[in-house]
Amino acid sequence: MSKIIFENVRKSFDRLDVLNGVSLEIEHGETHIVVGMSGCGKSVLLKCLLGIFEIDSGDILVDGMSARNKSQRNDYLKKFSILFQGNALFDSMTILENVEFGIRQLRNISPGQLKSIACEKLLSVGLEERVFNLYPAEISGGMQKRAALARAIALKPDVLLFDEPTSGLDPVTGGVICNLLKDTVKKLGITSVTITHDLKVAEFLSDRVSMLNKGRVVWTGHANDMKNCKNDFVEEFYQSSCAILGRH
Ligand SMILES: Nc1ncnc2c1ncn2[C@@H]1O[C@H](COP(=O)(O)OP(=O)(O)OP(=O)(O)O)[C@@H](O)[C@H]1O
Ligand SMILES: [Mg+2]
Repeated sequence: MSKIIFENVRKSFDRLDVLNGVSLEIEHGETHIVVGMSGCGKSVLLKCLLGIFEIDSGDILVDGMSARNKSQRNDYLKKFSILFQGNALFDSMTILENVEFGIRQLRNISPGQLKSIACEKLLSVGLEERVFNLYPAEISGGMQKRAALARAIALKPDVLLFDEPTSGLDPVTGGVICNLLKDTVKKLGITSVTITHDLKVAEFLSDRVSMLNKGRVVWTGHANDMKNCKNDFVEEFYQSSCAILGRH
């Protein structure tokens, strides 16, 4: 059985149909990327997977469990960590406190152990000790991304979710962060789902890519096969991305 299964998932807000029957299977240990235009519902899809949004119909199964099933919901929710599009660090907490906060929610451990785990995670994502006691506003966007990643992996997730991991970063820092995400996922050997509108990110990170358009997955395959795909939307998206990147 696949690790994550979306079965004909629908989600609307008032009269706006955002997800119109998403069906998708993601394998154990796979790095899966969902690509689509801005506003097409990528973040909504991720929030439905995370259980933040309740879906209208269909189901999402992770290891056969569903957030819609009351007796499975808690175990389902514990499987995930997410790196949010805007990092979602707490402004009033230092970088170290941000990571400690996440761990404290899950485990009852001594302050000494808490600090030691948080420091270890921060060092593992390449942050230096000098920034541990600074506030998010006092560090760069790339450092904030690293801190948010440290907080996400400190929860020892089964599935790691990345929402636009390079948005707001310059191309060099974006590349460094992509490398870090790839290394982290590989080291932990876990399943990951990333959503992005950036095909460069998709090509670099992914095992497989799914294209989301008009609330449905219109294509799934390896990033390299996208250029030969006959779906009109995929072709247009690929050609436009190539034009921006100056590829032929
Ligand atoms: N809580 C909400 N209430 C009402 N509408 C919402 C809510 N969240 C998202 N939407 C709507 O759902 C649609 C999809 O939004 P979403 O944030 O998923 O887009 P996206 O694909 O992630 O875009 P981007 O690439 O710009 O991040 C938008 O029209 C948005 O306004
Ligand atoms: Mg989004």
